[in-house]
Amino acid sequence: MPNSELDLPAFETIAGLAFNTGALQRIAGGYETEVYLTADSRYVIKLKHDGGSREAMLAWARRMRAASELFARYLGPRHSLPNAYLVVDNGDTPPHVLSVQPFLPNAQNLDSLDYDTLSPDLRQSVFQQLITIVERSTACYQATGYTPDLYGVAGMHAHERHQRSSPRWLFQQAWRMLMQQPLLNAHNLMLTSDGRVVLVDYDLICHCWLNCRVYYAARRVLLWRDRAQLQAMNAER
Ligand SMILES: Nc1ncnc2c1ncn2[C@@H]1O[C@H](COP(=O)(O)OP(=O)(O)OP(=O)(O)O)[C@@H](O)[C@H]1O
Ligand SMILES: [Mg+2]
Repeated sequence: MPNSELDLPAFETIAGLAFNTGALQRIAGGYETEVYLTADSRYVIKLKHDGGSREAMLAWARRMRAASELFARYLGPRHSLPNAYLVVDNGDTPPHVLSVQPFLPNAQNLDSLDYDTLSPDLRQSVFQQLITIVERSTACYQATGYTPDLYGVAGMHAHERHQRSSPRWLFQQAWRMLMQQPLLNAHNLMLTSDGRVVLVDYDLICHCWLNCRVYYAARRVLLWRDRAQLQAMNAER
């Protein structure tokens, strides 16, 4: 699925990168995705865990591509990355979806950032960028009913994926986020070496329609909470 408008290599190159697995280094993942860095350190290749029929994976890849384009459009180029998607089907295992995006060298996940070590100017800039990201994500939700997964969940295991449609799992996640994870500690946002806050995860949060409506509405409340908190912190400085 080439995407010529984006700043990514041509489809043949992406496919070549994806299949040249010997040259890839695993850098993260475990829950929904395995994340690999290409040998030239220019791209990450994300192998999604869920496999299925070729038609199902193609449909899923198209949905993810549409979502990634939507989220990137709302967040703007300073806070987003281009993404390309392809379905791999080598006949041995069920087809899987891969996504490719530029690697952010020396970037840090916000949940591993020690804010006290940042200069006052950079800290202020991060707060302001987060307010912008919240406002744009809220606008995306209001216009489309979808919002990017800014928060993410660190340290989960692959076997937990099978519980993710259950009401109990959703309730636990919502509680975990409300109680523990403000946007300042988001796992899906990274601070780049040039001081930008960038979304790296463009996955859709949920699959079932009803769960999605509940989940996205809860996210809307979180965005509202985080905007108020960030504005208060920004005013204090
Ligand atoms: N473009 C990138 N540049 C640098 N690091 C990245 C990039 N994309 C992802 N990472 C690293 O890989 C981690 C996981 O990536 P991502 O959030 O896209 O996958 P995920 O579906 O949340 O994975 P999992 O849930 O399995 O951990 C990120 O939190 C980040 O640390
Ligand atoms: Mg993530």
